[in-house]
Amino acid sequence: MKTGKRKTEHLDICLKEEVQFRQKTTGLEWIDLNYESLPEISLNEVDLSTRFLGKNFSAPLMVSAMTGGTPKAKKINRDIAIACQRLGIGMGVGSQRAMLEDPALRETYYVRDIAPEIFLAGNIGVSQLKEYSPRQIAWALDEIGADALCVHVNAVQEAMQFEGDTDFRGGISAIKKLALLLKKPVIVKEVGHGISGTVARKLAKTGIKAIDVQGAGGTSWAGIDSLRGKSELGAVFWDFGVPTAVSIVECRNAFNGKIIGSGGIRTGIDVAKALLLGADLCGIALPVLKAQVKGGSKGVEKYLRQIIEETRLAFYLTGAKNIKDLKKTN
Ligand SMILES: Cc1cc2nc3c(=O)[nH]c(=O)nc-3n(C[C@H](O)[C@H](O)[C@H](O)COP(=O)(O)O)c2cc1C
Repeated sequence: MKTGKRKTEHLDICLKEEVQFRQKTTGLEWIDLNYESLPEISLNEVDLSTRFLGKNFSAPLMVSAMTGGTPKAKKINRDIAIACQRLGIGMGVGSQRAMLEDPALRETYYVRDIAPEIFLAGNIGVSQLKEYSPRQIAWALDEIGADALCVHVNAVQEAMQFEGDTDFRGGISAIKKLALLLKKPVIVKEVGHGISGTVARKLAKTGIKAIDVQGAGGTSWAGIDSLRGKSELGAVFWDFGVPTAVSIVECRNAFNGKIIGSGGIRTGIDVAKALLLGADLCGIALPVLKAQVKGGSKGVEKYLRQIIEETRLAFYLTGAKNIKDLKKTN
């Protein structure tokens, strides 16, 4: 199936159907922040700023990879980019496979004219590393002015697709080669089913700079692709994977680079908890798409501003003035 058609179907399903995990949760509800009823700081003092892979963030947040390759995707990427530039946070574009197939689609990912300063991550699937050389991938990153590349690893999602890739042999060595040859940092990310400690230990030897856990408990890609392909496997694998809280802890223990806590992050309290567990930054996808559909760039900005405000409050209520303080609060 053509990449553009698949991406359009994904967007439609995400917006029309209930696509989040059904029973499994992120596990973040099992974590409590240490509430300080006497925080001894002022809310005004809370400073959420951080640096991540050489870029400044006003808050430890990015919009996770979603789209590109179609006119609708172009508008979504641009609305997200405008909001991220205003807020001083990062974003990822969706899989750049479509622009590798047809370079004319580059403009559907290009946001640097309206978001010159943000941390911007390019995106490609590990399966595409069989087809495209590091040189071609470097071209795709340069064309959109990306700061880093996210390689998505999505065995369960692919297994639900009618046309999916169910041969993941050589994935680790392809990632290692790419990390060595690419001049930009490589981040390995799941798409919502989590990265276990076992995988993180293997990734620790590849030279990648960050793991974006994209754990279970938020959007289920096994769910979305089984709805799309009308596969009955989806009913069984819908809730498959490593919950976000577990994935963050396991990756933190196995990997020395940066960790992005993501998959089902829905409030500023979730952000604070993910940071407390060992994440350096958090990522959100589906709710941002819904905010864009509802209100364009203003809708995205309003939604993310709310998450940032909640995060600030969560910090304040644990007596933490900054991320370093927060990590000392448990
Ligand atoms: C509409 C949509 C399209 C997505 N496309 C991609 C993609 O192209 N590449 C990728 O790595 N992840 C993709 N994702 C996965 C997200 O980056 C994220 O890992 C996942 O949705 C879990 O986060 P959430 O629970 O906050 O939605 C997509 C997510 C959505 C909602």
